[in-house]
Amino acid sequence: MTVLVTGGAGYIGGHMALALLDAGEEVVVLDNLSTGFRWAVPPEAKLVVGDFGDAALVDQIIAGHKIDAIAHFAAKIVVPESVADPLSYYLNNTAKARNLLECAVRNEVRHFIFSSTAAVYGEPSVNPVFETVPLAPINPYGRSKLMVEWMLQDVAAAHGLRFAALRYFNVAGADPQGRLGQSSPVATHLIKVAVQAALGHRAGLDVFGTDYPTKDGSCIRDYIQVTDLVDAHLLALRHLRAGGESLTCNCGYGRGLSVLEVIDVVKKVSGVDFEVRRKGRRAGDPASLVAGAERIRTELGWSPKHDDLNEIVRQALDWERRLHNRKA
Ligand code: UFG
Repeated sequence: MTVLVTGGAGYIGGHMALALLDAGEEVVVLDNLSTGFRWAVPPEAKLVVGDFGDAALVDQIIAGHKIDAIAHFAAKIVVPESVADPLSYYLNNTAKARNLLECAVRNEVRHFIFSSTAAVYGEPSVNPVFETVPLAPINPYGRSKLMVEWMLQDVAAAHGLRFAALRYFNVAGADPQGRLGQSSPVATHLIKVAVQAALGHRAGLDVFGTDYPTKDGSCIRDYIQVTDLVDAHLLALRHLRAGGESLTCNCGYGRGLSVLEVIDVVKKVSGVDFEVRRKGRRAGDPASLVAGAERIRTELGWSPKHDDLNEIVRQALDWERRLHNRKA
């Protein structure tokens, strides 16, 4: 059987394509290359350049390959951008996902893995936050993804599709073999920006908010290494194929680090003391988001191998150097 990976030319989707191929699966990547790269798709995968909201194209791909599972990564993911341009988030992340689900139902694709997000929790009153708390996203990005979770529940009940909705916390790091990493030319994510600052590819970095009710005033996040994250997807796929029930799981390690702590680690690992500017809060940022990380371990037997921020930062630095040399 073959897995259709939407967004497989991007950061997490690309790592998923690698992991599937490493596990001996057949992979078709569907990506419109708006933020992904042709070179990021492993040569053993088939790349179709197009939009996952294009129902005729998706029907054709499913009919032409033995697709038994869709792993849906293609999405817009920048929180402040979603605040500034919400309709593009509701179009890309919600409306087009509805079309993709319709294709899955029409073509009897029974297994669906969805890249959801910790942003569905909004500003949780308690951290770590467990899957069972009431959901109250505070930005359009989180809302655009939560609506897809709701669609999945309804579609599963009506049509017998089974799904895994994986709520990512802050994904970082790179393939330990150096094959892939975060390659976006417009960096917004903290570790990406910090390693660019350390390597002199940008002039220092801004800390968005130092007056949050946290240990040092900066935001707390749970940083999860990308290979560990895609391992969770492989386990979810195995679970669904074995007839397991639909499930929704947090993907994080269950430990919170502040923005200032992350910056210190990047400085220590790189050996570079880059400039850090304290700025005002960024739109849409919750103060703290840490995963209640038990369910994924018990339900899927997930056992992360890279839970070490030093290692994550080292991988991100190595990849950033590689990417820079590749462009030069
Ligand atoms: N930050 C800075 N300076 C920067 C970049 C980020 O201070 O240059 C801060 C942010 O304000 C925030 C923290 O670092 O406090 C993390 O920000 P990121 O942009 O790295 O990540 P987000 O927490 O905004 O969002 C990410 C993903 C979402 C996911 C979310 C879950 O983009 O998909 O994590 O926590 F939902």
